[in-house]
Order: sequence, then C-alpha cells, then structure tokens
Amino acid sequence: MTHSAVDVIAAKRDGHRLSDAQIDWVVAAYTRGDVADEQMSALAMAILLNGMDDAETARWTLAMIESGERLALPDVGRPLVDKHSTGGVGDKLTLPLAPLVAACGAAVPQLSGRGLGHTGGTLDKLEAIPGWRAELSTEEIAAQLAEVGAVVCATTPALAPADRRLYALRDVTGTVPSIPLIASSIMSKKIAEGTDGLVLDVKVGSGAFMRTREAAQELARRMVAIGAAEGLPTRALLTDMSVPLGRAVGNALEVAEAVEVLRGGGPPDVVELTLALAHAMLGLAGIDPEADVDPAEVLASGRAFEVWERMIAAQGGDPGAPLPTAAHVETVDAPASGVLTRLDALAVGTAAWRLGAGRARKEHPVQAAAGVRLLAGIGDEVRAGEPLLELHTDTPDAVPGARAALDDGLAIGDEPAERGPLLLDEVRA
Ligand code: URA
Repeated sequence: MTHSAVDVIAAKRDGHRLSDAQIDWVVAAYTRGDVADEQMSALAMAILLNGMDDAETARWTLAMIESGERLALPDVGRPLVDKHSTGGVGDKLTLPLAPLVAACGAAVPQLSGRGLGHTGGTLDKLEAIPGWRAELSTEEIAAQLAEVGAVVCATTPALAPADRRLYALRDVTGTVPSIPLIASSIMSKKIAEGTDGLVLDVKVGSGAFMRTREAAQELARRMVAIGAAEGLPTRALLTDMSVPLGRAVGNALEVAEAVEVLRGGGPPDVVELTLALAHAMLGLAGIDPEADVDPAEVLASGRAFEVWERMIAAQGGDPGAPLPTAAHVETVDAPASGVLTRLDALAVGTAAWRLGAGRARKEHPVQAAAGVRLLAGIGDEVRAGEPLLELHTDTPDAVPGARAALDDGLAIGDEPAERGPLLLDEVRA
C-alpha cells in the first residue's frame, strides 16, 4: 500500500488512530528525507493535540529504533542496567550512581545527551573534568563495560536517528510537551542502546519537564508500557524536583558534589536518591540489594569511588585534577532573618543557566565552572545580610539576569518549614 504524508497528517488531525503501516512509513520516510520537515511538524502538532494510544506509541518507538542501528554489545559477563532521568536542577545522580551500581556487580551502559535549557546534561558535567572524552566507539564502550563496569558517554549518531531529527524539529515548533512523543523519544534511545533493564527517574515539580504529579505518572506509565511492549524490564520512580537536588547546580560544582557522595559524604538528598535508584537498578539486574550486596555499605566503603576513578581515567579524564573554578563569584544575601521557606528549582536552574552553566541552543558552549552553590536549604534559619547562595560565572555581565531569576524563587518566613518527601511514587509494569 502506498501512503502519503498528507493522509497521515489528516488522519491524526481528525482524531484517528494511526495504523502500524502508517507509523512505519512516516517515520522511515522522514528519516530518508521523503517527508518534509513542515509535514513532520504538522504531524507532531496533530499528535500533541490528539495524542497516541499505548499501541501507537509503542509502534512509533519501534519505528524510531528501526530508523537506525541497535548497539551490538557483546556479553560483558554482567547484567546491563541503565537509568534515565527526565532532567532536573542539580540532578547529578548519574555520576555517583553508575560507579556505585558497577561496584555492586552490574554493568551500566549510559549513553547520554547534552543539556538544553535550565536542566544540565550529564555529558556537560563530566566534560568539566580535565581530559575527559565523551565520544567512544562501540568497541571502546564494550571494553570499558567489561573492564570497569560503567560507561557514561555520548550517544552514537546511528542510534535512533529519526528521534534526533524529530527532537530538533519539536524544539522549534512548540511540540516538545507531548507525552507520547517524549515517552517514545526517551525509550527509543534506551532500547536501541541494548540495556537489559531500565530505571526511569521521572522528576516532578517546577524544575522538571512534568510540573504535576498526574502528568509525571502518565509519562512514567507510558514509558513502562513501551518497555513492556519491547521486552525491556522497566521501572519508574517519581521524584521531587520542586527544590534543587543537593547544594550544587552547574557542571564542575556538581562533579565536586558527586565526588563528595562517592567519598561517603555529600548532601543527604543526593545520597538518598542515589541509593533508591541503585536499589531499583540492582533489583532489575537480578542482584538482591538486601541479601547480596548493600549499596549503602559499598558507597561508604569507597569501592564506588574506586570505580569512579577508573571510569573517568578510562575516558582520558584525570580524576585527581583540580576542577575549573569561576573567574567571578558573588553571593546573594538574605534580605531578612527567619526560616528559608522557598527555594524554587526552576528559579535556581534558570539562574545557573544564565550564569553560563547551560545552553539555549544545542550548538552553544557551556561554562564548566558556572553555576549556583546553595548555602542554605529549606527549613534552615538564616540571618539578614548573611549569604544564602553563591553565583559562579566567567561572565559577570550575566549576574543581574541570574539575580532577577531568583527574585520570586526564594522566600524567608517565620514558621518552621521542611522539605517534602523526595520519593513520590513508583510505576511498574
Ligand atoms: N528528552 C528526550 O530525550 N526526548 C524528549 O522528547 C524529551 C526529553
């Protein structure tokens, strides 16, 4: 049967389901260049407005996987398990988590992207380490998985190329916030990567893609359903992103905090979520985190830190080298005495982004040393004139914009306050 882009667009515009054949055709034809960007934009908008059901979304995901190659990883002698976060402010969890899970006996093949907007990308953070290299060949990935047990590197161009084109198009056509398109975009890359199990950290709150718990639950349910349809065991944790994670936001600042966690210290919220995700990942890998190995003990013992050093060195990085520091650091001081009652993730993320930690367009560079260091957390007593947070940047002209972003993001009150729970929900197949 022959298809036309206009018929596929019209079907979705009029609220119909797309058939498997229509989905396979339109994704493949778009990848070949036979469906034009303006046609795919119209289809993405029709999908955003009229949705796709679970079966359509699973087929769309499969078509995006089939647009490229699956990473052919040989048996590395351990179960492969990965984690994906939908992105948040101060979310450096991959950095301690990948070596921790490897130190507990699984192997973590994490193919990642760079950050866009106010949430940072894992590769941007690791690139703050002198010498560290993101681009690896399939052979290098396989060798590192076998020898070290953990790889965090750039996704290869051959994995889900349809998604790469479509995501860039969605970015400029107002069609990113479609749950079926987000779910299929994330899952196509993870399934093509060839992991045996996947834990999703679906962030909820002002600093996340998903602002409400309902939307996050729906995204999590969709991704877990795609995993089930494609034979990839998948679990999702819903975690709070209304407040930044930890005390550091920005690339080198976050690496330093991750190292603190790997040395057995670090902020309690980062440690708590790292351990929760490690438990979920080990469970999927068939390693019992109660009976076989205790991730908390592995973290405290320094064994995860040893894997971190090897993981960084294997990719050319010097784990002992000093991290870059910003040319300009200034503080934001408490305007009154009292209790810090509000520390909004989006405000802090936007401030860090404006200071140079993030990019507005994917071709923009980031500053390794830029970001925000929080000196107080929700519920802490603060005194008028004392520093609440530090702004780090190489471009001091960016400071007024960062201060403006924080205007409504901080509040000081008289009543006691405490941060809400980090772990909000869990979705399993
Ligand atoms: N991250 C992705 O990889 N894809 C999306 O569509 C949204 C976030």
